[in-house]
Amino acid sequence: MQLGVGTDPSNPWILQEKEFNSRHLGKFEAVMCQGNGYMGVRAATEEHYVGEHRDMLIAGTFDKFDGEVNELPNLPDVTEIKIEINGQLLDLNQGEVSDYRRIIDLKSGLLTRSFTWTIAEHAYRLKFERLVSMANRHLIVSRVTITPLDGQAIVKVQSGIDGQQTNSGSQHLVEGDKRLFDGEFMQMLTSTNESKINMAMTTCHKFKTADGHAIKQHMEIGRRQVFFNFTDTIAAQATLQFVKYSTLVTDRDNDFQGQDLAALQEFGLTQLKTACAESFDEQLAATTAAWQQSVWDYGKLQIESSDMDDQVALNFARYQLAISTPVHDHRMNIGAKGLTGEGYKGHTFWDTEIFMLPYYIFTKPEVAKSLIEYRYLGLAGAHRKSQDNKYAGAQFPWEAAWPSDGESTPVWGAADIITGRAMKIWSGFIEQHITSDVAYGAMEYVNATGDDQFALDKVYEIILDAARFWASRLEYNETADRYEINDVIGPDEYKEHINNNAFTNYTAQWTLQTAIDLYEALKTNEPKKFAELNQKLDLDKYYQLWQAQVDKIYLLQPNADGVIPENDTYLSLKTIDLSKYKTAEHVGGIFNDYNLDQISKIQVTKQADVLLLLYLFEQKFAAQEKRINWDYYEPRTTHDSSLSLSTHAVLASDLKMTDKAYELFQRACQIDIGPDMASSNDGTHSASLGGIWNAVVFGFGGVRLLGETLRIEPHLPEAWTNLSFEIFWQQQRLQITVDKSRLTVKALDATAPVSFEHRGKQYRLSGNESAIIDL
Ligand code: BGC
Repeated sequence: MQLGVGTDPSNPWILQEKEFNSRHLGKFEAVMCQGNGYMGVRAATEEHYVGEHRDMLIAGTFDKFDGEVNELPNLPDVTEIKIEINGQLLDLNQGEVSDYRRIIDLKSGLLTRSFTWTIAEHAYRLKFERLVSMANRHLIVSRVTITPLDGQAIVKVQSGIDGQQTNSGSQHLVEGDKRLFDGEFMQMLTSTNESKINMAMTTCHKFKTADGHAIKQHMEIGRRQVFFNFTDTIAAQATLQFVKYSTLVTDRDNDFQGQDLAALQEFGLTQLKTACAESFDEQLAATTAAWQQSVWDYGKLQIESSDMDDQVALNFARYQLAISTPVHDHRMNIGAKGLTGEGYKGHTFWDTEIFMLPYYIFTKPEVAKSLIEYRYLGLAGAHRKSQDNKYAGAQFPWEAAWPSDGESTPVWGAADIITGRAMKIWSGFIEQHITSDVAYGAMEYVNATGDDQFALDKVYEIILDAARFWASRLEYNETADRYEINDVIGPDEYKEHINNNAFTNYTAQWTLQTAIDLYEALKTNEPKKFAELNQKLDLDKYYQLWQAQVDKIYLLQPNADGVIPENDTYLSLKTIDLSKYKTAEHVGGIFNDYNLDQISKIQVTKQADVLLLLYLFEQKFAAQEKRINWDYYEPRTTHDSSLSLSTHAVLASDLKMTDKAYELFQRACQIDIGPDMASSNDGTHSASLGGIWNAVVFGFGGVRLLGETLRIEPHLPEAWTNLSFEIFWQQQRLQITVDKSRLTVKALDATAPVSFEHRGKQYRLSGNESAIIDL
């Protein structure tokens, strides 16, 4: 695979930068971002460079600046450390840099940067190590080691908390108290502008000098800044080492038990005092163990490939999902760029349900459950959205922030090359398939886990309320005697204001049919719950309506050639040669030549749309139908959304185009770690990272949830000799191993019999039984 970041042939858990290049700051800040689901800290260097983005974000701390939509504020920075050696300010654009390495160890989350810096005829060895703890989510620890190689060095350090951060200029934070406790713990308080979330950042340093002499630090308070200054003289070949501990707490945290600011101050301080009683190595051991126990022990996945980078890409995808998923709090969800940058403002999209939820459903169902609970809490915002639009039920926001916020999509976006004005973002108004996607994802969870209690408590209500929305949204066309959904955007966002997007109509129909089935099942089997929901959602009335509508929803049918129209007009639009855009180095190149209005008149598709429908509802469509539509739509798809390639990879696997599937899989893996050095500047692509796992497990591994049946029909790519992974299925664990000739499915301590299907045959395993199947 062609990568823009380095790997290490002896260790698939390593990503590295082998040469410092200040033009590639964004790439490495995002792909080497650290975090723990509570916070994300971009891998900005300790010293400043032009073009850097030192974002540090805490999940769920949304705030609005001056009439803009909610976003995660960029918090006071604790990673900056200003170092001056013998009068030279550390700056790798000056002097000479040798033996440079920056490494993120995906297994432990440890970030290390080391190099020799030669300036004014003297050489110094510097090493920076940083961890964002998985064991204590409030904690960041950095260790700095400085060794003058050929003479004595006077080292001056300034290190503390810098609150002069903005979100690309938008200021979210109001300055609070800054002070020192016990002569060594400095603290800065701040609060968000509009959402009034209080935060406390607390920092201290611990020193280690060659001869054990003490180092004295002086505090300095600036505008929105608080620092320690200290100076030391280091003999040649001797070493100064210091560890900087910082804690971040907010009064939105669900582990903050106090009531007021004083309690929050105390909470941050206590966290810090406890943390700095342990050395850097002890903190590293704790976080490494926590990564193992909370992440790597679940859904173990191993690929034997002639291209080792395939395994690296999977490890990277899982690492990134772990740092960005707020598993600790169901009031929060995963942002489209995780916690790795300001892109998409920390907002949650359908990316969660369709692209990332499957990973959690099959590897750590309790996380999937928490992500669905967020949508349940979001029902209030969804009701507000539907009321504002004069609909009923729950209309989920296209972009979601704090659960009760409702629609959070910004209204204005990038420049239109023809008009020279900002383009209106219509998704928040008319990209309505999100409501079905949320219902679909929640139902997948229930089907895969059999978690009936949660289904009764939350999932069924989400689906029934979503169906109420669709009942009010459908438009009856009297002439055709059918229900239509007009003026929408489907997954293909290159077509705005279109009528009857196939994906939207089919998924709305699925939502209504599922609601009808649930109504009937609940009424018979769960009368108490039924009565409660009936009263809350007026189900008897809606049931009548759903029944009248469901079979009349317009489901676009294949034309004479077998092609399902993406919408009412797509197939009649002109075609152009898209090869230039399909092979371009950067996505979105079509916008350099056409504006959206012109693109809407061309048969060009941004991302899987009809093909996504065929993948999600695979039992509804025959293989030949899928192949015809693949041949039609893939050549017309620019894959300008990062959500596209992985879906195509799965579908290509299903269609037994394994070479093509492998090519698409590798391209999906390259979205963040590939050669485009600008692709991740605003953050990594969470849905694509989930999609990489989907491409492996659902595509090559052939795993599929068909209603309530698990099907396993793998097809390994040529380059792979073995694929092995674990999944949860109906609360049991299965280990699936595939090589060129054999599929082995092993139950791992199954407490109840567990079934799956392979080529129409049923298998049932108990205890630690295995099924060995020749391929
Ligand atoms: C895609 C959407 C996606 C969003 C966030 C857009 O470019 O077209 O489908 O939800 O990015 O990832």
